[in-house]
Amino acid sequence: MIDINAYLECKRDLVNHSLIQFLPAGGPTVVNSAMRYNLEAGGKRLRPVLTLATAEALGAGEESILNVACAVELIHTYSLIHDDLPVMDDSDLRRGIATCHKVYGEAVAVLTGDAFLTLAFHVIARYGLIDGNAEKAVRIAFELAEAAGTKGMVGGQVLDLLAEGKNLSLEEIENIAFLKTGALLKASVICGAIAAGATKNQLKSFEKYARSIGTAFQIIDDLLDYEGNTADIGKPAGADQTRLKATYPALLGLDEARIKAEKLYNEAVKSLDELDCPTELLAALAGKLVYRER
Ligand code: IPE
Ligand code: IPE
Ligand code: MG
Ligand code: MG
Ligand code: MG
Repeated sequence: MIDINAYLECKRDLVNHSLIQFLPAGGPTVVNSAMRYNLEAGGKRLRPVLTLATAEALGAGEESILNVACAVELIHTYSLIHDDLPVMDDSDLRRGIATCHKVYGEAVAVLTGDAFLTLAFHVIARYGLIDGNAEKAVRIAFELAEAAGTKGMVGGQVLDLLAEGKNLSLEEIENIAFLKTGALLKASVICGAIAAGATKNQLKSFEKYARSIGTAFQIIDDLLDYEGNTADIGKPAGADQTRLKATYPALLGLDEARIKAEKLYNEAVKSLDELDCPTELLAALAGKLVYRER
């Protein structure tokens, strides 16, 4: 039996230790300290753990895969800094502490986000320079750019802002959730699979799994905005309702939204059956993503 909590804690420590090593030594002090501030704020680190767990499922445990896992978390960290800006969700609290722009000002927060996004691709390029990883690095950079760009997170974030105060269909809400959040979660799995040398068929099954958990993750995030409290979730509860965000619970109600997330969880676990490698860990991680309280 897998002790998923122990696994998560162990990998989170590994990722945290590694992320700090990537902080630039040179450059303006204020951006460096803002970067450190954001990384030390913690976070669940679910994306990099998914990358590591996917690679492990395929029998790959190389230390170099930690680079790929960290690159995903760097992109995620950038996205949160920009998401919280006054021109976007205008949030004062993230991961239980003041948001980047509250401490460092908006200009430095924008640039700190830019620095994280750039650093992510620097980290992947360096991974490519390690013996034999060049082709994998190109494929991983492609996946990450697709997931983070206009066909992924940036596109989803634009639609999310345009949807404020509007009545959207379930299909439209699903599209936004997948683009703004699901795409990077999917990439965290796919990049781990590429790094571990997955076959085409394996990639297809991983993609199904990752798509389902990616969308489920945003539904739970939306539910936590209603049902969680600020101290637990580390960001202001009720913010989506104040900003009239188009979310699953706003459209479907709390119960239906949860049923939808659980259905996606079941689909994710089911798609793991198609894989010819041990997937118990990935099933347990899907559970942690969906049945979470923060
Ligand atoms: C929050 O992500 C933002 C979304 C994409 C929904 P997480 O819930 O993973 O945030 P951290 O990294 O744990 O702070
Ligand atoms: C954020 O979605 C998605 C990102 C790309 C960061 P939310 O706006 O719902 O995330 P939180 O609730 O602020 O963490
Ligand atoms: Mg947002
Ligand atoms: Mg937000
Ligand atoms: Mg949210």
